[in-house]
Amino acid sequence: MRILANDGISQAGIDALKSNGFEVLTVNVAQNQLIDYINKHKIEALLVRSATEVRKDIIDQCPELKLIGRGGVGMDNIDVAYAKEKGVHVINTPEASSESVAELVFAHLYGAVRFLYDSNRTMPLDGDTRFKDLKKDYSSGSELRGKTLGIIGFGKIGQATAKIALGVGMKVLYHDSEIEETSVILKFYDDQTITFNLKNHSKEDVLKSADFITLHVPKQKAYVISKNEFKLMKDGVGIINTARGGALDEVALIDAMESRKVAFAGLDVYESEPKPEIKILMHPDISLTPHIGAATKEAQDRIGVELATKISSLLK
Ligand SMILES: NC(=O)c1ccc[n+]([C@@H]2O[C@H](COP(=O)([O-])OP(=O)(O)OC[C@H]3O[C@@H](n4cnc5c(N)ncnc54)[C@H](O)[C@@H]3O)[C@@H](O)[C@H]2O)c1
Repeated sequence: MRILANDGISQAGIDALKSNGFEVLTVNVAQNQLIDYINKHKIEALLVRSATEVRKDIIDQCPELKLIGRGGVGMDNIDVAYAKEKGVHVINTPEASSESVAELVFAHLYGAVRFLYDSNRTMPLDGDTRFKDLKKDYSSGSELRGKTLGIIGFGKIGQATAKIALGVGMKVLYHDSEIEETSVILKFYDDQTITFNLKNHSKEDVLKSADFITLHVPKQKAYVISKNEFKLMKDGVGIINTARGGALDEVALIDAMESRKVAFAGLDVYESEPKPEIKILMHPDISLTPHIGAATKEAQDRIGVELATKISSLLK
């Protein structure tokens, strides 16, 4: 059986598929040639990331296609309901990247409490002439240990983030619209484990009590954090958004930063992605990454292997 991984797949994924008897093609076929390619090469499974679109035209005109696989979480680029209606399996890999996103949250947090986002901008310009001034500017950093992390959305990534927070000595308060209580198990390198039982809190309680707030909700119809939510937060709070652009009101964020209610933000996702607003990009107190939460080598390997396992159980 032949599989086309049109947006690429890790070597670990290719190896796992090959060992289960599949042939894997990793050419990148242009969107407008995809239908011809799939039919000509008798492709039965099409794997994509976020670049290739799998719409009704492909589903209708490629009758031999049995499976569409998305390496990653969001399925916005696939007509999922239509594919399922036509009997085509649609799979994704929701588990594979939770830890990678959680680590990025802490990359932003640790960087922000010591002003790395700013010193990395000023040191190349002034580090050799104003070293002592810069040392003074960045000498009032703080520590994460002992502080409270508020987590909004306590699914896979929220819980992976909680594990790191607990591991570095933070208190965790979460708010989730569904999960009333849960146990988070911290696993250490030598297989020791510690279990923490955590309970849901109201969004208001979390916003009022947290020193830092991180968002891990799915795509929303309305902002989760906007003007009214900022008002409830502690002065000098830090906020991280690695979830979705539309979860955080960027105009309200800029206002809250101007009044110093919010000391810093760490953003991986943007309302106007892939063209974030200049006000956001140029803001001196925002730590910025271009939607790379899931983009680690380890996550790509796990994605490949998770796809291979699911494909083998569905098509073999
Ligand atoms: N930055 C990246 O590269 C990257 C990578 C992967 C996922 N993500 C994003 O991370 C987010 C979380 O992913 P996940 O795998 O943890 O999802 P998940 O489905 O496991 O968890 C989401 C949780 O949010 C809760 N929730 C939904 N709406 C809520 C609301 N309004 N208030 C409070 N809780 C709410 C749900 O009950 C659920 O428990 C998604 O938006 C996903 O797109 C980003």
